[in-house]
Amino acid sequence: MKVELTSSTAEWRKLRRAQTARSRDALVELDDGALPRSDAARRFWSRRTWSELAAVPAVSQVVLALVREGASLTTIGAYTTIAQDEVRHAELSHALAERLGGYDDDVPDGLDYAPRSLANPSDVSFAVWALANGCFSETVSLALIRARHAATTQPLVRAVLAETLKDEALHVRIAWQTAGEVLPNLSRADRKDLAGYGDQLAEMLRRTFGTAGLPPKLRRREDALRDDAAKAGLGSVAAAHENALIDEALAGIKARLSKLGVTTR
Ligand SMILES: [Fe+2]
Ligand SMILES: [Fe+2]
Repeated sequence: MKVELTSSTAEWRKLRRAQTARSRDALVELDDGALPRSDAARRFWSRRTWSELAAVPAVSQVVLALVREGASLTTIGAYTTIAQDEVRHAELSHALAERLGGYDDDVPDGLDYAPRSLANPSDVSFAVWALANGCFSETVSLALIRARHAATTQPLVRAVLAETLKDEALHVRIAWQTAGEVLPNLSRADRKDLAGYGDQLAEMLRRTFGTAGLPPKLRRREDALRDDAAKAGLGSVAAAHENALIDEALAGIKARLSKLGVTTR
């Protein structure tokens, strides 16, 4: 099967130009400017690092599926560029965590950040990865980062969020453009399978991007670190607000997917 996303070419080019410009200018330099020490914020930014790192294998799986399915080099290039953006987001998050008191590389039991397992060999189709990574993860992530950027007062942290926000907005546009070209052409049975998978993804995102669905004790701890980092203006918004934003984003995703013939619960 040839995966050719013809109408996406202009967005693709924009993505690649934006990235070339960024690597030249290095918009956010984390070498200067002191950050306050904050245990909540260093742990929050460690979680952001795990999340951005998980996006790297997820997008790489998209790239592999595109090659398997015979996509054009333009399409493949767009996704390798997105993968590189995600590496940069992970680097920036890691640098912030370090400067706020130290990056934490131990993912606590019960949290589903899984960069390593996402890197396992997979024969899952492009449509599935595009739905999971693009329509769900990128869209929810953009809603959160937009709110965090608006709520953050510390200038360096705000600059990192501003840079990430620009990238994620483009990733989301590309994701939905891709979905619009790929999903309606799938068989009814495939669209039904995808919808079921989308329901599972929605629950997973409530537990990873948000704290809803975590066991009570873990949830209290995860809520507290978001609330404390939010109070300090260091990158989070309050946990209850984040969970509400995720629900809102998921409702929006459900409506958009149903227009493309994928009807989730
Ligand atoms: Fe990202
Ligand atoms: Fe992204």
